Amino acid sequence: MNPRDRLIFALDVDSTGEALDLVRILAVEVGVFKVGLELFVAEGPEVLEQLKKAGARSLFLDLKLHDIPATMRAAAKVAAQLGVDYLTCHCEQAGIFAGLDLGRTRLLAVTVLTSLGPEDLKASGYPPALQDPRALVLHRARLAYAAGAAGVVCSGQEAAGVRQALGPKALVVCPGIRPAAKLGTGADDQKRIVTPEQAIAWGASHIVVGRPIRQAGDPAQAARQVVEGIRLGLDQAGGH
Ligand code: C5P
Repeated sequence: MNPRDRLIFALDVDSTGEALDLVRILAVEVGVFKVGLELFVAEGPEVLEQLKKAGARSLFLDLKLHDIPATMRAAAKVAAQLGVDYLTCHCEQAGIFAGLDLGRTRLLAVTVLTSLGPEDLKASGYPPALQDPRALVLHRARLAYAAGAAGVVCSGQEAAGVRQALGPKALVVCPGIRPAAKLGTGADDQKRIVTPEQAIAWGASHIVVGRPIRQAGDPAQAARQVVEGIRLGLDQAGGH
């Protein structure tokens, strides 16, 4: 796999026009474009077709579905018919996707949002043993993989444990990525952050990057630097 195909760029904007501009600027550097709730709710499914026409080779629909099994399965089926390569859901119920044929769409289970830390898990009422995000991520990752997901979304800080638990074939997708210069300073609302190189070296198959590219003076150059980080991480990991 080309290192750039491991870079998922978050199109966190609210209009088709802005999204298309970003695709045109980044189509060469970025392998996968991610449409999140903001853009999908604002513009609807039609935006996906337009992104493809503008040069997006692969699409990731980040809907983070969370509902009863019947609704989840039905929604996943309809979303898959939109022709996206990746679709996200929350997955806390074993067996929920068993036997579900989504064609080319690979289902990714969100474990614990990268904006949450131990204090948030404690405030949400998790017992002490699951207040460490690493423990809760691992627990949910195993559940999701057994439930039929192609892989999981977790922070780079948990990538090594998840990779070990799920094996070499699982997709391990890590948001909460910041360039080395920003670690400890500009994390925005993200709490569990690592660099592109670290995430890949520790076992991520893909990384999700939004603001560090979108808000850069030269987004294409910022994306090239991220891809260089991916390349370095792959060298360290022995090219997994
Ligand atoms: O701008 P930034 O690089 O922080 O963007 C991260 C992206 O990854 C956002 O689009 C966010 O919705 C997504 N995401 C996340 N944490 C998760 C799953 C997805 O930050 N666990």
